Amino acid sequence: MTVNSVKKVKSLNGTIRVPGDKSISHRAVMFGAIAEGTTTVEGFLPGEDCLSTIACFQKLGVNIEQDGERVTIEGKGWEGLEEPSDILDVGNSGTTTRLMLGILATRPFHSVVIGDDSIAKRPMARVTNPLRKMGAEIDGRNEGNFTPLSIRGGQTKGITYQSKVASAQVKSCLLLAGLQSEGTTSVTEPALSRDHTERMLEAYGVTVTREGLTVSVEGGQALKAQHIVVPGDVSSAAFFLVAGAIVPNSEITLQGVGLNPTRSGIIDVLKLMGASLKLTNETMVGGEPIADVTIKTSELHGIEISGDLIPRLIDEIPVIAVLASQANGTTIIKDAEELKVKETNRIDTVVSELTKLGVSIQATEDGMIINGGALLKGATVNSYGDHRIGMAMAIAGLIAEGDVTIERSDAIAVSYPSFFEHISLLEEK
Ligand code: S3P
Repeated sequence: MTVNSVKKVKSLNGTIRVPGDKSISHRAVMFGAIAEGTTTVEGFLPGEDCLSTIACFQKLGVNIEQDGERVTIEGKGWEGLEEPSDILDVGNSGTTTRLMLGILATRPFHSVVIGDDSIAKRPMARVTNPLRKMGAEIDGRNEGNFTPLSIRGGQTKGITYQSKVASAQVKSCLLLAGLQSEGTTSVTEPALSRDHTERMLEAYGVTVTREGLTVSVEGGQALKAQHIVVPGDVSSAAFFLVAGAIVPNSEITLQGVGLNPTRSGIIDVLKLMGASLKLTNETMVGGEPIADVTIKTSELHGIEISGDLIPRLIDEIPVIAVLASQANGTTIIKDAEELKVKETNRIDTVVSELTKLGVSIQATEDGMIINGGALLKGATVNSYGDHRIGMAMAIAGLIAEGDVTIERSDAIAVSYPSFFEHISLLEEK
């Protein structure tokens, strides 16, 4: 087991460029694999999750070369995908699992999808049920809810689907299947989830129609190869935005951070809590807005985080809990049941691990209540194999009296392999 200890720092100062966006990196590879022609990707996140996506599509017969943040994908169109002679291992990645199932649903061959212990517990019925309605044959434990999953794709029919959850993975899976299905596929969600699929499909030459919370595609659409520039991941930036706000005497600039409005809830929360934050160099890359974000040590106050804001910051809640522990007053997080089906049950893991560090925090049915003003103390905590729990604990460690020792810290490489390096770059020496 890999263990990392984090010590209190005097201040954090400087400029860093966070790694490429995980959601966009996955999509750039997958869409490149089904597109016609050679796609090149710049700013790719070489984290374990995105490497799992590359490995799966290589097993589907696509030539993909990756060298750090550069990837070249030799797409041969939908028909170019081949039946894999080996299992498709998604590792820890829910995005790989659910989006790839949408692609496999329309391919006339058999494949088996497996992942790690965490993936084996995550609900897949949210995609396998609608994909079956479209005509794909899928089997797996718990009636196709859990991996390993076996899928035989073929000619599918478009579907009009009302999703119970605001999930970009569900929406993207069905839209991808819809591209090779008969007729129209429409997905309606209860609140807007991240829209990288819609934006990037358009960049790859696909027509996507949006009306309110409904997104539709027509079947029979091909993708054309692209050059994709991946913005910095706001979900990775979030750890340093929180660090900059809570570590004394700090000022951090994060360059080229993706600020797609469906992902930028953390910026809203920081502002609502009173953080001193500034955006500069605002521009667009690859159809996505980016900016440099500067944050300074701030006086913070508790707030309520709920409703449509939740899907815009769902992955940031572990580190928002750390932020809230340093605010004046109480922060209430509601409407966030989806936290229970992430890499871990993040209501449980955030509450148990922050309690060990001395935070007064209570789990609720759909979120948590965090009392501010905590004096954090060192302790041994566990990531439970969840990258974002590991990083949230490390950020807490930067202000704790005594070492914060993080067990299973290797999980951090799933989305941010250079995380500890970036902490030392900013630390006062
Ligand atoms: C993702 C969507 C979100 C998010 C995950 C990445 C994506 O999951 O939590 O980290 O890339 O589409 P859900 O679709 O399950 O909400």
